[in-house]
Parts: sequence; C-alpha cells; structure tokens
Amino acid sequence: LKALVVLAHPEPQSFNGALARRAEATLQALGHEVKVTDLYQEKFKGIPDADDFSVRGDPSYLRIDREQTYSRDNGVVPPDVLEQQRLVDEADLLILQFPIWWYSMPAMLKGWAERVFTRGWGYMPGMKYDNGLHAGKLAMVSCTTGTTESTYAPDGIDGDIMALLWPVHNGLLRYAGMDVLTPFISFAPESIGEEGRRATLEAYDQHLASLETLPRLFFHSLDEYGPDLRLLPHVEPRSGFQRRPG
Ligand SMILES: Cc1cc2nc3c(=O)[nH]c(=O)nc-3n(C[C@H](O)[C@H](O)[C@H](O)COP(=O)(O)O)c2cc1C
Repeated sequence: LKALVVLAHPEPQSFNGALARRAEATLQALGHEVKVTDLYQEKFKGIPDADDFSVRGDPSYLRIDREQTYSRDNGVVPPDVLEQQRLVDEADLLILQFPIWWYSMPAMLKGWAERVFTRGWGYMPGMKYDNGLHAGKLAMVSCTTGTTESTYAPDGIDGDIMALLWPVHNGLLRYAGMDVLTPFISFAPESIGEEGRRATLEAYDQHLASLETLPRLFFHSLDEYGPDLRLLPHVEPRSGFQRRPG
C-alpha cells in the first residue's frame, strides 16, 4: 500500500507527532510506502479565503465551492492545494492524525479538508458517498483525547467518541467515497504515563498490522435511500447515527 499520514499538531514532540512517526515506521516495516504531511511544520494555509483565487470566475461575489471548480477547470488551483491533492491521489490509504480539540478536528485539519477536498476534486454534485470521486481508497482516523475512555462511552459525559467522529467519517471520508477503517483512538495520552504511552504505541502497531482484517465502518448504501434521501421504510437504520424520528 501507499499510505499518506496527515498530521495536524503544532508540537512535533507531542503524542500525535509520536503516533505519526510510529505509523510511518510500522507501515514501512510492513512493506508499505509512507508519506507524512505535517501541516503545522509546513505552515499549511488552514483557511480558505479570497487569496486562494487569484483568477476569479465571479469577481463580484465569492462562492468558495464555485471558485474551486473554476480554479480546477482553468488550471489555477493554488500550488499547496494541488500538492496535497496529488499526495492523496497517490495514496491507497489516508490516515488523519489529530488531537480532539473542541469535540472535533483542529481548525488546521478542518481547513485542510475545506481547501483540499474541493468541489471538482473532492466531490461533485451526484458524485459522493457510494459514487464518491475517491472510491477504492481506504481512510482511517487516528486521534487522541484529553479525557479517559469512560468519558467517551456511549453513556459517558462527553458522549460516544464515534458520534464526535461521524462528521469526519461520514461527512468527509465516506462522502469522498472512501472505505473507512475502524479508528485508532488514544485516550488521555497526557495522563497515562510513559508506560501507558508505550503500550498505546504498541497497540497502534497491532492496529496497523491488521489493516486487511480491521472492520470497515458501516454506511448505508445509496440504494437503501428513497428519492428524498431518507432511508426506505423497510431499512433498519444501522449506522448508529441515523434513527427513525419520534
Ligand atoms: C484547543 C483545545 C481543545 C481541546 N478540546 C478537547 C476536547 O474537546 N476533548 C478532549 O478530550 N480533549 C480536548 N483537548 C485536549 C487534547 O485533546 C489533548 O491535549 C490531546 O489529545 C493530547 O495529545 P497531544 O499530547 O499529542 O497533544 C483540547 C485541547 C486543546 C488545546
């Protein structure tokens, strides 16, 4: 496999940095090719704005998604975005490595998604989910938390960690057509001591060594939805995050 690890953490010595390096070393030892994009070290521009569009389709009103398609059609995509798209295109496996910040991805990684997963490259009308432009690729989240596993249990105070990750899993990775692997979640790396962190890195080795057999996350297929894009009456919601109203 060719893997791309996208790291979003401002401190290279952080546990997130360690997880990214561990993925690189472990996957290489397993015979895979690995590239790491370190967004903070590369000073990636993490916010989409007018500066991304030197030549505008509509100079009078900025619509980011339309301008993204225009840029692509006219060969004026910003070089840093093109480079990230090239790296993802080359990869069979995309790993997003990030700390949970405010129940979500850090703004830097969100901005990476907003700038790189453009209309025209990341998705197009009608080209999403099962018909996504990146069908055939694998994707996986590796994230860290501040609090312990129990706070993220389905009945924990922070709520089910999988619910926090649904926007990333379904809204970005699956939306783009990728198959999404079971995430690797490092709970509270700052609170578990050196020994705990070592054990977590070893567990990550195991996770990475079993990519082939790791369960893929379940998403309903497009043929299970009606014309209104709601699940057909006979389909039992099974994603864990869709339910019958009422
Ligand atoms: C801006 C910010 C927001 C955070 N929000 C959360 C949060 O919502 N949930 C959580 O469990 N931890 C939160 N944390 C703690 C980080 O997730 C934790 O410090 C990190 O995952 C530990 O990994 P690291 O040592 O690689 O930074 C937050 C930290 C920062 C700086």
